[in-house]
Amino acid sequence: MSLSDIVADRAEKVVARCKRLASVTETPGNTCRTFLSDAMRECYREVGDWMDAAGAEVSIDAAGNLRGVYPAAQTAAPRLLLGSHLDTVPDAGAYDGVLGVVLAVSLLEALQPRKLPFAIELIGFSEEEGIRFGTPFIGSRALVGKLDDELLNRTDKNGITVRTAIERFGLKPAEISKAAMNNDNVAYVEFHIEQGPVLESLGIPLGVVEGIAGQMRGEFSFLGRANHAGTTPMNLRHDAMSAAAEWIVEVERVAKREQGLVATVGRIAATPNAANVVAGQVRLSLDIRHKSDHVRTRAAEFLAVQAEEIAHRRGLTVERKVLLNQPAVFMDPFLMDQIEQAAQQTGCTTHRMVSGAGHDAMILADKIPTGMIFLRTPGGISHHPSESVSVKDVAKAIECGSLLLTQLAASGEFQKRMCRA
Ligand code: GLV
Ligand code: MN
Ligand code: MN
Repeated sequence: MSLSDIVADRAEKVVARCKRLASVTETPGNTCRTFLSDAMRECYREVGDWMDAAGAEVSIDAAGNLRGVYPAAQTAAPRLLLGSHLDTVPDAGAYDGVLGVVLAVSLLEALQPRKLPFAIELIGFSEEEGIRFGTPFIGSRALVGKLDDELLNRTDKNGITVRTAIERFGLKPAEISKAAMNNDNVAYVEFHIEQGPVLESLGIPLGVVEGIAGQMRGEFSFLGRANHAGTTPMNLRHDAMSAAAEWIVEVERVAKREQGLVATVGRIAATPNAANVVAGQVRLSLDIRHKSDHVRTRAAEFLAVQAEEIAHRRGLTVERKVLLNQPAVFMDPFLMDQIEQAAQQTGCTTHRMVSGAGHDAMILADKIPTGMIFLRTPGGISHHPSESVSVKDVAKAIECGSLLLTQLAASGEFQKRMCRA
């Protein structure tokens, strides 16, 4: 078998595994896996078995991250982290997050039994999407020591706290500090689908991520007065639904006015949510992102003022909660160069780009040098069941990853970084 046939086989296997995991779900008929659900347990069993067979020692930390350590050539060696997340949005595709973990398993399979001057730790992060508790990055926050009491006490829609979810999974919240990275962790590298149309429009399979846009997530509640839909004249209403609708359109208008700004109201809940009752309360999510923290923060503040103005004019009040305020981050220049070199070695032209999507990489980048590689996403479609990836692009990514490991193992600069660890 030629080398390219072997890589093509590995790529087929990666795609088949992602599809297999898409059937491990909380909601039969579509894909949904949230933080430490039964589906996550089953997913961990499968991925853990693959990690184990690839020569890694597998464990689950107290924040629910699935971890597998592939040893170095010598003991007491520094550690390179590779990973992505295993949770999904509701009605998800098969590749967001999952591909990065499964591809990393494939890199170990390709490496085995060769050992490098550094250990490789694979991490399947437990929570990146923010679906169950409204706040993303629960898993990666534990690695940087930021899974704090405030977050542990957040509740899901059934009133279960993050802490209780951890306990019910059989883990010990008191041990969360042990999930934090050690000084011997020298770098983090994440493969991920682009989730946008840029690479496809350029005809390029792999992208080098330069930075990740900052994001704010919040919750707004318009509080009016519920009343009879048939008897309450239009001019005497305090209709939370109409106020929310006006504000949603304002969110879109503000985002369209500013180059690169994206703002989304993706979730809405009305009370009492009945056809013949003027809504008394409407709760909405706001997700707002830009590569400049200044632009993002200014837009978020403006939208908060607009919500107040709309509520006041209509005789309502508004409450708001900030659930996440995550600054934009830059990737490590040395790793960007290394990734670019490895991608070019596979025969690809590369493109440097900013990620609009959030990633575990943006949390880890706070503490260790971090790099990200994007794979072209057909149609730019993601967070949707028709999300896809081409097997040929996965093969390029595997080749790029294997070359990257070899390059880092031979790099004088990386050696220096490892000695500092
Ligand atoms: C994660 O997928 C996000 O960017 O919302
Ligand atoms: Mn996602
Ligand atoms: Mn993702």
